[in-house]
Amino acid sequence: MNEQAPPTGQEAGAGPAEGGRAQPAAGEYSFVVAASRLPVDRTEGPDGQPEWRASPGGLVTALEPVMRAAGGAWIGWPGSPGDPPEPFDTDDMHLVSIGLSAAEVRDYYEGFCNATLWPLYHDVIAQPEFHRQWWDAYVRVNRRYAETVARQAAPGATVWVHDYQLQLVPGLVRALRSDVRIGHFTHIPFPGYEIFAQLPWRRQIVQGLLGADLLGFQRQGDATNFLRACRRGAGLATVGSRVWVPDAPPGADIPGAPATPAGAGTPRRRRSAMARSSAGGREVRAATFPISIDSKAFGEIAQRPEVQARAQEIREALGKPDIVLLGIDRLDYTKGILHRLKAYGEVLDEGRIGPPGAVLVQVASPSRERVEHYRRLRDEVETTVGRINGMHGEVGVAPVHYLHQSYPREEMAALYLAADVMLVTPLRDGMNLVAKEYVACRHDETGALVLSEFTGAADELSGAFIVNPHDIEGLKDAIVRAATISPAEARRRMRSMRRRVFENDVAHWADTFLRALEQTPAQGEHARPSPAAEHWEHSGPADAGHAHPDADTSPAAGHAHPDAAAAAHPGAAASPHPARAS
Ligand code: F6P
Repeated sequence: MNEQAPPTGQEAGAGPAEGGRAQPAAGEYSFVVAASRLPVDRTEGPDGQPEWRASPGGLVTALEPVMRAAGGAWIGWPGSPGDPPEPFDTDDMHLVSIGLSAAEVRDYYEGFCNATLWPLYHDVIAQPEFHRQWWDAYVRVNRRYAETVARQAAPGATVWVHDYQLQLVPGLVRALRSDVRIGHFTHIPFPGYEIFAQLPWRRQIVQGLLGADLLGFQRQGDATNFLRACRRGAGLATVGSRVWVPDAPPGADIPGAPATPAGAGTPRRRRSAMARSSAGGREVRAATFPISIDSKAFGEIAQRPEVQARAQEIREALGKPDIVLLGIDRLDYTKGILHRLKAYGEVLDEGRIGPPGAVLVQVASPSRERVEHYRRLRDEVETTVGRINGMHGEVGVAPVHYLHQSYPREEMAALYLAADVMLVTPLRDGMNLVAKEYVACRHDETGALVLSEFTGAADELSGAFIVNPHDIEGLKDAIVRAATISPAEARRRMRSMRRRVFENDVAHWADTFLRALEQTPAQGEHARPSPAAEHWEHSGPADAGHAHPDADTSPAAGHAHPDAAAAAHPGAAASPHPARAS
């Protein structure tokens, strides 16, 4: 397939261009979601032809009521290279596929998304690679998404863009359709500036994101890191959770976006001062919205008799051990699987717990298998499992049951029910929904969770045994403590975690984000910041690429009340956004 041309079936035709650029006409959907993937599964029809069926995931479940009320469209990649299916309607959603050629899967998905941004944003656990050809593909695919969004969105629509794969989309959409309201949510961590600064295209990424009206992050630290990148990487002024973006088109530095920013080439400190003293500009809010799961649905699955019977069956198949420990992860180096195995292996070596009394089930679902780091990790994990089983196993008894497979939700729930101790020990993770799923399934308030402090979930699940996965001695102690917890302590811890997981479910998350998005000032309503009344922070002459990384002496952002932006714009509360049930 031609790498440049949109494949057939793709929403292609844009109208004649202003200044040579495509200006799509408005579409009919008042709520548009753009995400890396479409919520569909590819199946085979009776005639052997591929068919696409909607696959309900957490995000879709959360957005379904909004989709239904608003008549929503979901834009994403169906997951394999080649011609995408024609747009189709399913339940209450219009699904529009973005096609990726094989070269784009290599350069955009496996390359820039998963071998540049993913390791960079996860604290360089693996070395990120920077390739201009990958960046070009990222720009091209982001532009394709933005043009599709612009064609689908009705006048004044709400557009919600998701994650690190689509960070340029907000700016590109704004350049095409200034009438829509745009939110973006980053599901993974946003790195500290010293790490982010390695990215040759850091300024374009910041500017792309700033095309949104509201930027959501999992943890306060992520939002704070982003605000710092705005000051340091883009020379913009911030106050609390707000960034002032002068009138230059936010997509101006993104290849292919129109126009040049007014004041480009002016030293940054002067430029932001100029922007604040002129009328034109927008305020963007960057705040925290911790994502969750469909807790009720998971809880209900775990109550089903057949799922409970399956949990019993699993324990029996494991040889009825006293303690079942469980890890369920995508096979990803961020998940800390090797650290976990090391700690477990040492606990066995020391005889603190072990087979046949204790057994670890480690599910590692296949992921990104063509990316080198992932291939290497699989080899290392499988070698380590083999070593532990070789050392501590007996005929018919294996201390580690390793499963390189993916499972449907019912089997996952049965595994959660079968496990006395859940091990969630990532080195870095935006949230980690497995931890919340385990809690949602433990309706009898038994079980213990060992949870890495480097997950977003650690901010919420204080009933867990919180660990630093790099501290192997600490991890070993936590595993043993969790495995030997008293029923009363387990109940106390689990009850508090369940309260949190059921109160803050994924519907609450979507609702909170969309309400906050509604409250952002509409086009033309942005109040000019008042430097006299507020302490706007900005860095020294930043990012012509030569600012010293330590030049930012501003105090950490995020100390202002996160609702300050909404409060500053009381007139913006009346909303065009469709109401949704919680
Ligand atoms: O946010 C991280 C994420 O993109 C999730 O949405 C997804 O489940 C996971 O990483 C794996 O993504 P993919 O299989 O698309 O690379």
